[in-house]
Amino acid sequence: MANKKEIARRYDSSAEIYDSRYKDIQIHKYIEIFSRVDFQNSKEIIDIGCGTGSFLGLIQSISDNGRSFVGIDLSHEMIKIAHSKHPDIDFIVADSDNLPIKEGLFDRVLSVTHLQNLPEPKQTIEEMSRISTEDAIFAVSILRKTWTKEKLKQVAEESNLEIYSEWTDDVEDIGIVCGRNP
Ligand SMILES: C[S@@+](CC[C@H](N)C(=O)[O-])C[C@H]1O[C@@H](n2cnc3c(N)ncnc32)[C@H](O)[C@@H]1O
Repeated sequence: MANKKEIARRYDSSAEIYDSRYKDIQIHKYIEIFSRVDFQNSKEIIDIGCGTGSFLGLIQSISDNGRSFVGIDLSHEMIKIAHSKHPDIDFIVADSDNLPIKEGLFDRVLSVTHLQNLPEPKQTIEEMSRISTEDAIFAVSILRKTWTKEKLKQVAEESNLEIYSEWTDDVEDIGIVCGRNP
């Protein structure tokens, strides 16, 4: 696996063309998550590995109502585009293994086609869990050519998450929706 600097460089260099090449594919994944996760009754939503911010922008356009939205990405160029598309959302350049965020803040934690970039996905999920509220809902998808759904579920369960639902995207990803075990 490429190291994080190389990964950031790779996404930096594809940031300009990312939406035109991938947005239509990513939208399938967002719809899958929308059908499983209640955003109306949420307060603080974070998208880890948010890319150009499209998913947060979509959630905001459908259900704003005073919610707060935060996007995290390793790539400066992705975040620059996300800022320009959605100036009223907070976007932060950071590594998802070391989030500059206090514990217990977010009640919706999203990670779409992001985990396959991480050397220790269990550590990443545990970091996502650290910043979540006790009743948080997580939606995590990953490229199915890199992982099986069984492996994703196993890592989530080892990180003390309970699986509520799962899916296989016709196009590209497998995914799960889960919550923290008491
Ligand atoms: C395939 S893109 C998906 C972007 C977005 N989730 C979407 O739906 O379009 C993967 C994203 O993960 C980001 N990423 C990779 N490694 C990361 C890390 N360690 N921390 C934060 N973001 C990371 C990349 O910069 C890239 O923007």
